[in-house]
Amino acid sequence: MKSKKNIMCVFGTRPEAIKMAPLIKKLKNNQNFKVTVVVTAQHREMLDQVLSLFDIETDYDLDIMTNKQSLSDITARVLKGLEKIYQKEKPDLVVVHGDTSTTFVGALSSFYNKIEVAHIEAGLRTRNKYSPFPEEINRHLTGVLADLHFAPTESTYNNLRKENVSKNKIFITGNTVIDALYEIKDPDFEFSQSDLKNINFNKNKVLLLTSHRRENLGKPMENIFKAVKNLIKKNKDLEVVFPVHLNPKVKNLANKHLQNVDRIHLIEPLDYKPFINLMDRSDLILTDSGGIQEEAPSLAKPVLVLRDTTERPEAVKAGTVKMVGTDQNIIFNEAQKLLNNNNYYKKMAEAINPYGDGKASERITKYLLYKFGFINKTNNEFK
Ligand code: UD1
Ligand code: UDP
Repeated sequence: MKSKKNIMCVFGTRPEAIKMAPLIKKLKNNQNFKVTVVVTAQHREMLDQVLSLFDIETDYDLDIMTNKQSLSDITARVLKGLEKIYQKEKPDLVVVHGDTSTTFVGALSSFYNKIEVAHIEAGLRTRNKYSPFPEEINRHLTGVLADLHFAPTESTYNNLRKENVSKNKIFITGNTVIDALYEIKDPDFEFSQSDLKNINFNKNKVLLLTSHRRENLGKPMENIFKAVKNLIKKNKDLEVVFPVHLNPKVKNLANKHLQNVDRIHLIEPLDYKPFINLMDRSDLILTDSGGIQEEAPSLAKPVLVLRDTTERPEAVKAGTVKMVGTDQNIIFNEAQKLLNNNNYYKKMAEAINPYGDGKASERITKYLLYKFGFINKTNNEFK
């Protein structure tokens, strides 16, 4: 019998954890793999929420997060921390996900230690160096270092081909976020947070807001908050829920502009389960998040993206997601139209799912079985 292969999953933030969770579960259930889970804990509380929901046990925890950490802080601490672990474990493959600093440094450290690295959610591009910052460049750099690229969609596959990544290194899998979403969505879910319990979702309209991107900190975020305040003023049946990211820069701005405003609920970041079910019961989503742009279309929720670029054009093309940037009047006008024009709303609120069928982690696992010689074929599921 062949010996088990040691697959090391390295991640550090909330979205990476959500999107890695289904894959970790699949790999762990396979007798051919030993799975080593390494968290950098670039996020602490927001990461721990996900680890506990999906029951993920960690083998190593670098615990690097500091208050108001800089990009250099994260990069240096992760690089130094991973070195010892890679040298001790000598994994057969490192798996990283997405576009965070943990992702990039996880891949860089693999290269320094001459360990193969696979990149999940590969190939997303805006082609704008500073937007999103630093994620666009984190993706490029991870792409340069990766030996295997698991691209979620056809267009991300094409992006990598344009960069001359060879065909036999790229596999279209769908996005593992849809695997996670299908596992967690529950129409009978009941909220335990008092703010959410008290919202009458049948009578009132609910707008869900999230914002955390570095390029929106400061004036752009203030514009967003002013637009939302104006929406509340003009729509007496509107409630806004804003689970505020733990970044103190976001918290301070949110408190300054939105605290103690009637019908605006500033709450702590939600666990993934209540969050997904809140999304499912909301009428409209305003966000600068990447993952939420992928989840909302399959829940048939219109999304206004508070950014000038997106590396996720699929749902924009399909019409469920619209880019509105951070101009106060544009945000207000677009949201007003959705809240008050039924036909317009219906056109945007179509359930489409360009990001996957819930089987992305199964495909990735299958490919890894094939790569390490445990199975002979992959059933032509890959490009
Ligand atoms: C990071 C990622 C971003 C990703 C986002 C998901 C980088 C450079 N940025 O951005 O790509 O979209 O996570 O949310 O990799 N904090 C806490 N507790 C937590 C999490 C954060 O207190 O659980 C606070 C800390 O003060 C920390 C700050 O938030 O210093 C910023 O965290 P950081 O990971 O640097 O940036 P994010 O904006 O979260
Ligand atoms: N999310 C969550 N609780 C919240 C807000 C978001 O669980 O209060 C989830 C959301 O469903 C998505 C992910 O976190 O899967 C997105 O994370 P974030 O917006 O922080 O990062 P991005 O996707 O922009 O990298």
